[in-house]
Amino acid sequence: MADLSVSYMNLTLKNPIIAGSSSLTRTVEGVRRCEEAGAGAVVLKSLFEEQIMWDVHQAEKETSLLAHTEAYDYIRKTTHEMSQSNYLNLIKESRKAVSIPVIASLNCVTKDPWTDYATKLADAGADALELNIAIMPTYLMQTGKEVEGTYLKIVEDVRKKVNLPLAVKIGPNFSSLPHTAHALARAGADALVMFNRYSQFDIDIEKMTLKYGFRFGTPVDIHIPLRWMAVLATQAECDLVGSGGIYDGEAVVKHLLAGARAVQVCSVLYQKGLDRIKGMVEELEGWMDRKGYKNIDDFRGKMSMELKGKPDYYQRLQYIKVYSGEDI
Ligand SMILES: Cc1cc2nc3c(=O)[nH]c(=O)nc-3n(C[C@H](O)[C@H](O)[C@H](O)COP(=O)(O)O)c2cc1C
Repeated sequence: MADLSVSYMNLTLKNPIIAGSSSLTRTVEGVRRCEEAGAGAVVLKSLFEEQIMWDVHQAEKETSLLAHTEAYDYIRKTTHEMSQSNYLNLIKESRKAVSIPVIASLNCVTKDPWTDYATKLADAGADALELNIAIMPTYLMQTGKEVEGTYLKIVEDVRKKVNLPLAVKIGPNFSSLPHTAHALARAGADALVMFNRYSQFDIDIEKMTLKYGFRFGTPVDIHIPLRWMAVLATQAECDLVGSGGIYDGEAVVKHLLAGARAVQVCSVLYQKGLDRIKGMVEELEGWMDRKGYKNIDDFRGKMSMELKGKPDYYQRLQYIKVYSGEDI
């Protein structure tokens, strides 16, 4: 029988499948169900920076700035549902309810002093902290350097405040992800989660309004994170976790072969149910048995850029006509 356990940021996971942050992990019951379904760890729904700032505004009785805006309504609603104290309670109660690691998640968009809040999450008993940093540049004068500087400042600030294992969840859009990954690890990240799926922008052409696109990832989303996993696996100075479009054991195996320590799954749980976690664990185990692997470290990274030694596959971005006449 193969041993599926992995070490992720020095936490021991019984298997590499982590239930990623989403509304499925916003209650103790949800967290318990993920454990029952076989998850190796769980990342709680993110507490959003805006929610923390809202509480700060409340405390200071300075709500007028936000009054009567959509943001005001949204924040009022979500704050009601998940205030800071509810979130700390969710960590405490989840920690008691399950034996798998519970990773708290903070969404960050600025480098404001709200990062003090990270210490409260640590005190509440989180096994690790995941920073879900999502900055959308929308102004002409905003340079890539400034945006990346904000990522680094957030990580540095939080690192100074907590000793917890610290993961940073990012999107794929950086000019040079290897350099950014290196800088994030130097700033204090113990792991990078690649990648988040952001809300999808869309337009309703009949109502002439803005709307959100399809919420969930699909199996074709695996290719971008998989390539980056293989490229960064032996270069990054921190653990790497694959996330995006992982729907079955085959996708889990691909990420581990590329060099991932673990994977996070989310959309598949909404689309196919929590039982898919158990299914993926069995499919991973079945593959390891067929290939004769006893431990994940026996094959982890075997298809990474450095170990495979075929940089063309990792570097090629454009389709070209090959001799067969097919575009690849
Ligand atoms: C409905 C939904 C809610 C999500 N909420 C969060 C969140 O609060 N924090 C976060 O870091 N990621 C959140 N995510 C992103 C997922 O954790 C995951 O990184 C992303 O969806 C890519 O993986 P997937 O293709 O398996 O869904 C959410 C995703 C979905 C679909």
